[in-house]
Amino acid sequence: MEIIKQRFNTKRTSSGSLTFLEGKRDIPFEVRRIYYIYDLAQGAHRGFHAHKALHQYLICVHGNCEILLDDGTQRETVLLNNPGEGLYVGPGVWREMYAFSPGAVLLVLASEFYDEDDYIRDYDRFLNYARAKVH
Ligand code: TYD
Repeated sequence: MEIIKQRFNTKRTSSGSLTFLEGKRDIPFEVRRIYYIYDLAQGAHRGFHAHKALHQYLICVHGNCEILLDDGTQRETVLLNNPGEGLYVGPGVWREMYAFSPGAVLLVLASEFYDEDDYIRDYDRFLNYARAKVH
């Protein structure tokens, strides 16, 4: 499985850092939705789903967290600990988010409006879906 971690444009000065993302130039899909996860309970595990069509970038804009990615054949863990970089997660990839540091904020840029029909929330169903797509 290819892990795409993208470094965004960042201006660092003695007074602070500024990261910017430009549609089409930095993000290869049209961003239709932005959401963020915060106020996380200690030990929180989230996600536990895949999407059929959604493209996303995950950016830990404060603190750090770990993302488990699973394409049905391989599992990889990615540490997000830099507000200047984003992790691309495409369709057909099961994800879990955990090990949030206190106060962590995970920002998500998504290619589509919210649609529960695009979710696969059952792991066995996901495996069947992933295997059917490979063949
Ligand atoms: P969910 O995707 O399960 O969150 P996570 O992946 O972080 O565990 O979403 C949690 C709840 O929020 C669920 O009831 C669906 C709802 N929701 C929306 O209504 N709109 C959204 O854009 C998102 C991402 C979730």
